[in-house]
Order: sequence, then structure tokens, then C-alpha cells
Amino acid sequence: MTAAALSGLDLLATAVILVDDSDVLRHMNPAAENLLELSSPHVVGHGIADVFADHDLLASALRYARKNNCSFSEHDLAIAVTGRPRLHLACTVTPIEPGSAFDLEGCIVEFRQIEQQLRIAREERVLDQSVANRELMRNLAHEIKNPLGGIRGAAQLLDRELENPALHEYTQVIMKEADRLQALMSRLLSPHRSPRPAHLNVHEVLERVRSVLLAEFHKKITIKRDYDVSLPQIYGDNEQLIQATLNVARNAAQALTESNTPDGTITLKTRAARQVTLARKRYRHAIELSITDNGPGIPPEIGERVFYPLVSGRDNGSGLGLTIAQNFVSQHNGTLTFESAPGKTCFTVLLPVAEAPESGVQGHA
Ligand SMILES: Nc1ncnc2c1ncn2[C@@H]1O[C@H](COP(=O)(O)OP(=O)(O)OP(=O)(O)O)[C@@H](O)[C@H]1O
Ligand SMILES: [Mg+2]
Repeated sequence: MTAAALSGLDLLATAVILVDDSDVLRHMNPAAENLLELSSPHVVGHGIADVFADHDLLASALRYARKNNCSFSEHDLAIAVTGRPRLHLACTVTPIEPGSAFDLEGCIVEFRQIEQQLRIAREERVLDQSVANRELMRNLAHEIKNPLGGIRGAAQLLDRELENPALHEYTQVIMKEADRLQALMSRLLSPHRSPRPAHLNVHEVLERVRSVLLAEFHKKITIKRDYDVSLPQIYGDNEQLIQATLNVARNAAQALTESNTPDGTITLKTRAARQVTLARKRYRHAIELSITDNGPGIPPEIGERVFYPLVSGRDNGSGLGLTIAQNFVSQHNGTLTFESAPGKTCFTVLLPVAEAPESGVQGHA
């Protein structure tokens, strides 16, 4: 291993260890020494089984990353240094690329302290908000839909009776606007159809989204794929998941094209995740699906309100795309979150891998 590469690691604020392909700890940076309360000279050169009392999850994360040659995240890794209380950490294991500066056949393991309570509290807020959104949409659509039919019908009758052709312009406006509102109301009500769940492959969902976007934004954007092809199937509603991911990905494509971002690129990525708490329930396995773009980012004045109905930053936007996406994802017991800054916006869908169909999609509220 080269000294330059290692001293780079030592400057990081993130706790990082290097583990070779025989599960021997080969390096530990100062941040990891602090977090794990270990001294590097005492543990480097020892197998992870000697250093950590319960190393099963770490060992299986290492095995998974090596076998599939892609990074793997464990959201709640319980790990104990022999003789000390157990720590709960989030960890990401990434295989070291051959020929890299580390010159080691092994993996980089990053540990992060999970502020689990904070994260769960935030997810609960999002969940409550999504239930409130659904309620608001249903009431709003119901209130508007009924009189709308009457207004349109009356305008149509009036249109036939009018003798002065110049007045038709006004009745046409009424009818056109009533039609536009009708279409909006149909979109507002669409999330309430019952899910039709079946076993499905998330990559097929993403491939559909990719082909729709390529057809719509031909040559204006690049779509990259970074799939973990070993992911298991999930139990869900194909059409709803396509619609949810399409709404997110279409926003990204619109943001890229409307801002004329040079080399506008969307990356569709899938990864395995474990020990995740979603919708107040704990799952052993989940699938992390992310859609990242290099566009201008979500306007700061919109921020967290993106998921609210009718919130839009675009001239012709109806502000329903993300509300609908979040509803569909939460009907699958999953979460939809985002991080955004100019140059990088990433929406992440976490979907549980249900062991049995009964624990999969629930009926809508
Ligand atoms: N990837 C992104 N980059 C920049 N802004 C985004 C991105 N995704 C969403 N937004 C912002 O969030 C707003 C809300 O998105 P949402 O999909 O809910 O509504 P919309 O796109 O305006 O309308 P609709 O999808 O109903 O046609 C967008 O108008 C846009 O301003
Ligand atoms: Mg949209």
C-alpha cells in the first residue's frame, strides 16, 4: 500500500478501515480509531474476527461486496470491540479497484455514526405529511370535481344558444379551462387506485423509465446505469413504481434541459441495503434505488416542500409529480427522500424486500 494513498485516508473526517481479501485489517485511519476506540498499531494485521466480538454482519457485508464487486451499505451495523458495549453504526463497504493507489486486494469500509432517532423522526414526519397530503388531495378533488361537470355542461348549452359569434370565444374559454381542471383532478385522484402487487425486478422498472425518457428527451441528456444485478425481486405494483420513478426522473430531465446544463446526465443506481427502518417497521433487507442528476438543484425556496401537492418551480408544472411519487412509494412501505445542491440532486427510494406477500404492499388508506 502506498504511503500517499494512506495519508490521504488519514486526513478524512470519516472513519475508514481497509480490510484485505482474507478479512485481515490492514489500515485504520484516526477517525476510525476515535469512533471504535481502538489503537491502530494494536489491531492492524489482525483478522476482523479477533478485533470485533460480533463481526458476522461486517463479514457478510464484505463477502457481498467482493462477490458482486460493488459497494454495499449496511444501515444498522451492530458491532462490538471485544470487551466493550456494542455500537450501532452505518457502514458502506466498497471493493478496492485493481491498480488503485491502495495496491491492495480488499475493501474500503466506511463507518458513520447513525443518528437513528433523528432519521426515524424525520421519516415519521414525512409519513404523516404524506397521509395529510393524500387527505388534502382527496378533499380538494372531490370539492372541485362535482361543480366542474355542471359548469362545463352549462357553458356547452350556452355555446349552442349564442347567436353572436363573437361571444363563442368566452364559452370556449370556460370549456377549455374546465377541461384543464378536470384533467388536473383526474391526476389528483389517480393515486387512490388499489395497488396490484406482484413479484417484480426493480431493474425492469428502471429500464422502462429509461426508455420513456430517452424517447422524450432524445439526445438532450445522457442516462447512465449503475445496477447491482444480484438484487432480489420485490413484491409491488409495477405500474405504480414505474410512475413514481418516472415522475422523479422526468423532473431531473426537465431540470437539465430547461437549464441547458452542459453534459446533462442522469444516473440510475440500485444497491442492497440492510437493517432499515421504513414506515416505523424494521426490515432485514431493502433495495435502495437512486436517481441523480447534475442539474441546477431544487430551488431553495421550495426545499422540503417539494412533496407537497401543487408546489412547483416550473412555469407549466402542476406540482403533483412528486406528491404522487411519494404516495406510491409509501403504499409500498418505502420512503422517498432527496438531497440537492447545485450540480447534484439525488432522489432515493428505499423499498423493503418483503419475505412474504402479506408483508408487502398494503392497501391504500
Ligand atoms: N431533479 C430536480 N432538479 C431541480 N428541481 C427539481 C428536481 N426535481 C423536482 N424539482 C423541483 O420540484 C418541483 C416539484 O416537482 P413535481 O414533480 O412535484 O411538480 P412539477 O414537475 O412542477 O409538475 P408535474 O410533475 O406535476 O408536471 C419542480 O417544479 C421543480 O421545481
Ligand atoms: Mg414533475
